[in-house]
Amino acid sequence: MSDQEGDRTSEAAGARELLRSIEVFAGDLPGFDPAAAPEDPVALFTEWLLAAVRAGVREPHAMTLSTVDADGNPAARVLILKDVGERGWQFASDAGSAKGRDLAARPRAALTFYWPALARQVRVRGPVAPEGPERSAADFLARGPGARAEALLGRQSQPLADLAERDAAVRESSARLARTPGLVAPGWTLYALRPVSVEFWQGDKERRHTRLVYRAGDQGWTRQLLWP
Ligand SMILES: Cc1cc2nc3c(=O)[nH]c(=O)nc-3n(C[C@H](O)[C@H](O)[C@H](O)COP(=O)(O)O)c2cc1C
Repeated sequence: MSDQEGDRTSEAAGARELLRSIEVFAGDLPGFDPAAAPEDPVALFTEWLLAAVRAGVREPHAMTLSTVDADGNPAARVLILKDVGERGWQFASDAGSAKGRDLAARPRAALTFYWPALARQVRVRGPVAPEGPERSAADFLARGPGARAEALLGRQSQPLADLAERDAAVRESSARLARTPGLVAPGWTLYALRPVSVEFWQGDKERRHTRLVYRAGDQGWTRQLLWP
């Protein structure tokens, strides 16, 4: 074994030890009584989101959006939840981005929320559709100036030569917005995921985790416990 290979092996062993030493589900965790869960998963989701906000979880509205491309290759990235309710779980992005292309080819996705302080995970799956130009424009116009300037470029997921190119483009875009504040990025799209299943997972220190899945059916939502 070369010195370099030896170093890599001991680094890997170090990582393994480090990973094993990290405590999971530390601190006081809330309970979850699935028998008392509301009939509608949106109500339970909202309850859990509010609990995450109250617990001081950073970016409690951040979620992982998983998509697949036309060939079935998966990709996942973090996005901000824009709204949740009768229209489903809403998020916004550039339709020309990698995820936008995935959703155009395969309009289905999964969302994953994780709130570490509460040891809670929520998984949502279902078809995704754009909410239309009016709602997308309203979402764009509600963004802060920096976020609008960046999104106006419409280049998300494209190769970038260097950071100076980015900074110059954002400066130019900010100037455009200052001249015409009502500008809306043509590709900016508000999407809605209509849930077919929503799973709630409550972690437990003793590993007696609780999983409750809601599934959409003809008669409304059905609820089912799952083995953790
Ligand atoms: C906390 C957080 C919030 C984010 N929110 C968004 C968002 O709301 N919309 C978005 O397009 N990208 C958002 N991003 C960036 C995405 O994770 C991703 O890098 C980008 O959308 C390009 O993804 P794609 O190439 O798979 O399309 C966020 C990233 C983080 C870490």
